[in-house]
Amino acid sequence: MRTTISFGKKLSSGLATLFAVATWMAVATTAKPAATAPVLLGDKVVIAYNDLGMHCMNQDFSEICILPPYNTMRATVIDRSNEDPKILTSGVTLQYSIPGNAVSHTKTNFWDYTYGLFGVQLPLDVGLAGNGLTGTMSVTPDRDWIAVGIPVTPVTDAGVDDPYQLAEVSVIQNGIVKDVTQAVIPVSWEIHCDNCHKAQNGESVAMDILRRHDRKHGTTLVDQKPVLCAKCHADPALGAPGEPGVSSMSSAMHSSHAKRLMKMVPSPNGKSVNVCYNCHPGNQTQCLRDVHYAKGMRCESCHGDMRAVGNPNRHPWADEPKCGSCHHVAGHEYEQTGKLYRDSVGHSGVKCVVCHNSPHAIVPTVTGRDNLQMIRVQGHAGTLDTCNVCHSRPPEEPFFHRRSS
Ligand code: HEC
Ligand code: HEC
Ligand code: HEC
Ligand code: HEC
Ligand code: HEC
Ligand code: HEC
Ligand code: HEC
Repeated sequence: MRTTISFGKKLSSGLATLFAVATWMAVATTAKPAATAPVLLGDKVVIAYNDLGMHCMNQDFSEICILPPYNTMRATVIDRSNEDPKILTSGVTLQYSIPGNAVSHTKTNFWDYTYGLFGVQLPLDVGLAGNGLTGTMSVTPDRDWIAVGIPVTPVTDAGVDDPYQLAEVSVIQNGIVKDVTQAVIPVSWEIHCDNCHKAQNGESVAMDILRRHDRKHGTTLVDQKPVLCAKCHADPALGAPGEPGVSSMSSAMHSSHAKRLMKMVPSPNGKSVNVCYNCHPGNQTQCLRDVHYAKGMRCESCHGDMRAVGNPNRHPWADEPKCGSCHHVAGHEYEQTGKLYRDSVGHSGVKCVVCHNSPHAIVPTVTGRDNLQMIRVQGHAGTLDTCNVCHSRPPEEPFFHRRSS
C-alpha cells in the first residue's frame, strides 16, 4: 500500500506525519528507485546531519573521563516556495528528539560526577551545553541550525544497544509541521582500553590506567578521582587548554601507544586488524561505514598511522584529512582554506555535508539507516544529486559544484 504524505498538518498530528514518512521509507527502501524522484516534498525541506560520523563517550565517570556524552546535531532548511531555492534561517522553528530515547541518566552515571569533573551541577539528562534529549535548534552564523552537546547514550529506553539511533528533526512554521526528517545520531562507548589494561587485584581497568600513569609520570591521579584527562592534556574537543608543557590528549595517547600497537599487527592468522578499533568504536560499532569503506579503505588510508596521528606538530581535531587532497575533478571545489569538511560549503553556499553526509558516513553507506534521509528526499541512496529536492522549478543552467557558478 502506498501512503501519501500531506504537509501542513497541525503540530498535534505531527506524530501521524512521522508515521506516514516512516511507512513510506520502509516501502522505498525495498522498492526499486524511481526514475524520477518522488516529489512528496512541501515548500520546506530539512536535511539534518551530525557534526561527526561518530561520537565517543565514556559510560562510567567515577574514575576517569576521556569524553562526556556530547552529540551535536545540525540541519539545513531549504525554502522551495520560490523559483530559486533559499537557505532558510528565520520564520521557522526546528525541533529535535530521539524517538525511543528520552532518558540518559539511568544508563550512565555522568550526572553524579559533572561537578567533580567539570565544576557544574547539571539537571538530569541535560548536557554540558545546556541541551537535553529533545529541544529546539538555534541558527548559526553560517546559515545552519544546531543543537550542541545532546547527552545521548548508545542504549535505547528499551535497553537495546544501538550506536546508530535515528534523531528526528521537524520544521515548524506557525504551529504547522512543514517537514520532518530523520538522521543518525551516532554515539558509542565501545572503547577497548581493556584489550590491554586489565582489571586486577580487585581494581578496575581505569585504576590500572591511573596507576601506570602515576608510576611513569610522577602524577598522583589515583588520589584525584574522578580524573578528567583534559585537565592537563589540551583537548580541543572539550575546549580544554590543558596545562602548559603537557602534551595534547591526542598526541599523548597516539604517540605513546604507537609502538605498543605495532606489536599487534600483522595478526597471526593474516586477517587485517584495525588497530584504531582498540580505542575507537570499534569492532562491533564499525564507525567507518561509508563509500570509502565499501571501496576497501581503512582509517590509515586517510589519517596515516598511529605515529602520524600522534605527531606533536599536528593540531588535533583541526589538522584532519581533506577530501580535496585525493579528489580532483576539474571545476569542483572542495574544503575552503582553513576550514574542516563539516564547515565547508559547495554549490551556492550549501554545506558539503547536506549532499554527502557526515565524515566516515559519506553516502552511500553500508549501514541502512545512514541512507534513509537521502532515500526520503530523492528516492535513492547516495549523494544528493536530485535537483528538485531543493529547486521546485528545474534549474535552467547546469549543476556547478563550486560555491558560485
Ligand atoms: C594495545 C594495547 C593497549 C591498549 C588498547 C591501550 N593501552 Fe594504554 N598502555 C599499554 C601499555 C603496554 C602501556 C605501558 C604500561 C607500562 O609500562 O606500565 C600503557 C600505558 C598507558 C598509560 C600510562 C601512560 C603512558 O606512558 O602511556 C595510560 C594513561 C594509558 N595507557 C591509557 C590508555 C587508555 C585510556 C586506553 C584506551 C582508550 C588505552 N591505554 C589502551 C597498552 C595499551
Ligand atoms: C594532573 C595532570 C594530568 C592528568 C589529569 C592526566 N595526565 Fe597524562 N600526563 C601528565 C603529564 C605531566 C605527563 C608527562 C608529560 C607529557 O606527556 O607531556 C603525562 C603523560 C601521559 C601519557 C604519555 C604520553 C607520552 O608521550 O608518553 C599518556 C598516554 C597520558 N598522560 C594519558 C592520560 C590520560 C588517559 C589521562 C586521564 C585518565 C591523563 N593522562 C590525565 C599529566 C596528566
Ligand atoms: C590507545 C588508544 C587509541 C588508539 C589505538 C587510537 N586512538 Fe585515536 N584517539 C584516542 C583518544 C583517547 C582520542 C580522543 C582524544 C581527545 O579527546 O582529544 C583519539 C582521537 C583521535 C582523533 C581526533 C583527534 C585528532 O588528533 O585529530 C583522530 C583523528 C584519531 N584519534 C585517529 C586515530 C587513528 C587513525 C587511529 C589508528 C591508526 C587511532 N586514532 C588509534 C585513542 C586512540
Ligand atoms: C576517507 C577518508 C577517511 C577515512 C577512511 C577515515 N577518516 Fe577519520 N576523518 C576524515 C576526515 C575528512 C575528517 C575530518 C572531518 C571534517 O573535516 O569535518 C576525519 C576526522 C576524524 C576524527 C575527528 C573527529 C571527526 O569525526 O571529525 C576522528 C576521531 C577520526 N577521523 C577517526 C577515524 C578512524 C578511527 C577511522 C577508521 C575507523 C577513520 N577516521 C577513517 C577522513 C577519514
Ligand atoms: C585518502 C584519499 C581520500 C580522501 C581523503 C577522501 N576520499 Fe573520497 N574516495 C577516495 C577513493 C579512492 C574513492 C573510490 C574511487 C573509486 O573507486 O572510483 C573515493 C570515493 C568517494 C565517493 C564516491 C564517488 C566517487 O567519486 O567514486 C565520494 C562521494 C567521495 N569519495 C567523497 C569524499 C568526501 C566528501 C571526502 C571528504 C570528507 C573524501 N571523499 C575524502 C579517496 C579519498
Ligand atoms: C548540492 C549538493 C552538493 C554539495 C553542496 C556538494 N557536493 Fe560534492 N558532489 C555532489 C554531486 C552531485 C557529485 C557528483 C556525483 C558523485 O560523485 O557522487 C559530487 C561529487 C563530489 C565528490 C566526488 C567527485 C569529485 O569531485 O572528486 C567529492 C569528493 C565531493 N563531491 C566533495 C564535496 C565537498 C568537499 C563539498 C563541499 C566543499 C561538496 N562536495 C559539496 C553534490 C554536492
Ligand atoms: C541541497 C539543495 C540543492 C540541490 C540538491 C541543488 N541545488 Fe542548485 N541551488 C541551491 C541553492 C540554495 C541555490 C542558490 C539560489 C540563489 O542564490 O538564489 C542554488 C542555485 C543553483 C543555480 C543558480 C541559480 C539558478 O537557479 O539558476 C543553478 C543553475 C543550480 N542551482 C542548479 C542545480 C542543479 C542542476 C541541481 C541538480 C543536479 C541542483 N542545483 C541541486 C540548492 C540546491
